[in-house]
Amino acid sequence: MSSKKLTTTAGAPVPNNQKSLTAGNRGPVLLQDYQLIEKLAHQNRERIPERVVHAKGWGAFGTFTVTHDISKYTKAKIFSEVGKQTKMLARFSTVAGEQGAADAERDVRGFALKFYTEEGNWDLVGNNTPVFFVRDGYKFPDFIRTQKRHPKTNMRSATAMWDFWSLTPESLHQVTILMSDRGLPKSPMHMNGYGSHTYSFWNNEGERFWVKFHFKTQQGHEFLTNAEAEKVVGKTRESYQEQLFGAIEEGNFPKWKVQVQIMPEEEATNTPYNPFDITRVWPHADYPLLDVGEMELNYNPDNYFQYIENAAFSPSNIVPGIAFSPDKLLQARIFSYADAHRHRLGTHYEALPANAPISEVNHYHKDGSMRFFDNNSGNPDAYYEPNSFDGPVEDPSAQEPPMKIDGDITRYEDQDVIGNYKQPGDLFRMFSTEQKERLFSNIAEAMAGVPIEIVERQLVHFDGADPEYGAGVRKALGLA
Ligand code: HEM
Repeated sequence: MSSKKLTTTAGAPVPNNQKSLTAGNRGPVLLQDYQLIEKLAHQNRERIPERVVHAKGWGAFGTFTVTHDISKYTKAKIFSEVGKQTKMLARFSTVAGEQGAADAERDVRGFALKFYTEEGNWDLVGNNTPVFFVRDGYKFPDFIRTQKRHPKTNMRSATAMWDFWSLTPESLHQVTILMSDRGLPKSPMHMNGYGSHTYSFWNNEGERFWVKFHFKTQQGHEFLTNAEAEKVVGKTRESYQEQLFGAIEEGNFPKWKVQVQIMPEEEATNTPYNPFDITRVWPHADYPLLDVGEMELNYNPDNYFQYIENAAFSPSNIVPGIAFSPDKLLQARIFSYADAHRHRLGTHYEALPANAPISEVNHYHKDGSMRFFDNNSGNPDAYYEPNSFDGPVEDPSAQEPPMKIDGDITRYEDQDVIGNYKQPGDLFRMFSTEQKERLFSNIAEAMAGVPIEIVERQLVHFDGADPEYGAGVRKALGLA
């Protein structure tokens, strides 16, 4: 028998947690059975809204260790010396499925990281692919609509997906990856992660560099074919949770090598592609991968809801030495995530244990729901700024160097139409014969039931990347 006494939420002892209070042995329940009402009322409030995208996820805590010195590019303290370790949280996810979706579904995987640095939280909210379907945040809600359920059938719609992709040629790079082996990893441990966007570093001398982040799996790439995935899902919908949670419980800690590509600030104007376009990669031959460190996941939280469901990652969380770039899609995300968190978790979501920084937090945001914590300044008179009462003040050393921009304000058309096909074609030509065959059949399966005019429109894009690509898909579709 436990020595711990069960209490009400107000701390009073609970005399009985099994039997309702009734009038007589066979009589009705009394309204004064406050504990019964409290228990039912709490249950009704157990769910919070699921993430509007990336609802199904798996996560764990871990450690980031610096293995190589990159302090000439960034003043961020997380990278300040070789051997330095920083606690971090990772959450992997599928994009389209709801919270109860099966894990082994073909989809892009989220690769969201939160580093609890001494200068505040740095969040890198990436995917397992280096590119994305669209390059402009204006298109994101429409794109996501094509991935979610049809309003009438309440089913996912292959027609909507291929209609949108075929009308959005910049999606071809990401579609090619999604339909390749990389679109269905065996587990979260068997995939790479990418920051995907171009971010920036700035150093103590006030120099800026553009940067892309890469996380290379040390477990090797493993994937499932569609047929294998059907069998997995037939047995368990939680294959990723089982594998990630199980490996960490057994002490078999998954690791990723962390690397960066660096571009000096002024070179961005000279590249033949727009280096701020998330539908393009930077060729490794031009911008080689530099080793930075290692990420290891080594600790399962005791409470999934508290630490994984309550985790709120946002590209807006940067630290001195790391900053944004003019990438249009990134700019939209800087707004979108904190807005989503305020809706999903509440105003003070950053104070929840999963999100609370290890560094001291001093701000002047006041009151609101969930304001259960002090303002930390220890000074009730300093509740506005500037003040004469020793309240927290700004730190100019956290100001990034000025960035020069010029240009006319308008809604620009992308000029590099050929560029939509070049990199997907290069990627296709790197695939082995077997990889190409799987790509063709995965696409053909995913196109089942799609009207022929939409299929034909998409085939033109495959042809544009490589005639062999279009021909292979046509044959798999029986259209050759
Ligand atoms: C989740 C918006 C593009 C990766 C989310 C959420 C929103 C969102 C609202 C849910 C947040 C929550 O409730 O916690 C957007 C918008 C985009 C965009 C507006 C484009 C303008 C991207 C891109 C990537 C990405 C390009 C990767 C490179 C993720 C990940 C999550 C997520 C990994 C799940 C985070 C977690 O595990 O909690 N996104 N997204 N998103 N997004 Fe995006």
